[in-house]
Amino acid sequence: MSPRSVAVVGATGAVGREFLAVLAARQFPIRQLRLLASPRSAGQRLPFGGDQLPVEVLGPDSFRGVELALFSAGGSIAREYAPLARAAGALVVDNSSAFRLDPDVPLVVPEVNPAAIAGHRGLIANPNCSTILLAVALAPLHRAAGLRKVVVSTYQAASGAGQQAIAELRQGLVAQLARTAAPTPKALPQPLAGNVFPQVDVFGADGYTREEDKLLYELRKILGLPTLPVDATCVRVPVERCHSESVAIELERPLAVEAARALLAAADGVELVDDPAARRYPMPLQQAGRDPVAVGRLRLGRVFTPGLTFWLAGDQLRKGAALNAVQIAERL
Ligand code: A2P
Repeated sequence: MSPRSVAVVGATGAVGREFLAVLAARQFPIRQLRLLASPRSAGQRLPFGGDQLPVEVLGPDSFRGVELALFSAGGSIAREYAPLARAAGALVVDNSSAFRLDPDVPLVVPEVNPAAIAGHRGLIANPNCSTILLAVALAPLHRAAGLRKVVVSTYQAASGAGQQAIAELRQGLVAQLARTAAPTPKALPQPLAGNVFPQVDVFGADGYTREEDKLLYELRKILGLPTLPVDATCVRVPVERCHSESVAIELERPLAVEAARALLAAADGVELVDDPAARRYPMPLQQAGRDPVAVGRLRLGRVFTPGLTFWLAGDQLRKGAALNAVQIAERL
């Protein structure tokens, strides 16, 4: 690939910083890198491959000469600026939920539906972090035995809610140890230190949250299964980095646990970590900063037959966000 002129929109955020780490680590061919954020970050510098690059204020002229724009600054910024980036000739990979369910916009996990990339019209959507991790684990099982139903509970890290949420968790932990009052959280709906709460994003009229809807509708689109039932409960846990998920699936055809293990061990983007007798199973502490989605605790389902129950953990800032977007860009 010839070196590109790249812009990172939301470069100062939790995912934005990860974009820089992933681009540098993978030696993505870059001719010029432009870091964009809000006026709050003007004058800040961020490390990239041994340099300190200035952060510029995002504006209508930010995309002149840019060939690839990686967006992670939320839905409203994406809706406003992605069209400007496209008009300037850039290809946009957007990490927000703004365009994910638009039928004209591919929603891509390269290990699962790489063919969808070809249909892009200058904009590709990066799926929700919990959805990416789950899709990577489900794809090989679906290919082998046909997916019928999914029930999933997520255990989501603070960093999924951004930099401010990480700060709130840290402040809460410090206050707990010091037995002082923690500041009221703003990025998170509840105090997270010493707590677990079943709310990620806002509630809809049917009692499910928007995050739980994302798992349903995005999985259907990525897997090409428009009627797949997906019942999700999304939970925030006091972990800084890496989401985990407890998953039960119903399959069309029986799949033995050993066969499922072999499929997962061979699957792109998956690491099989499944030796409970030796206390080996996926955990955030081990996956943080690493690329693969770890899958383990595989067993035959007790409710869904034929079916399987398992556990996964993956770095949601990396494979769940920045790495997936960069992998899409690498395939273009
Ligand atoms: P800033 O740091 O200047 O606020 P996170 O998801 O970690 O909260 O990060 C969100 C990212 O989106 C940050 O880089 C943030 O920049 C950026 N952002 C938020 N609002 C705007 C805006 N109005 N214009 C440009 N970037 C924005």
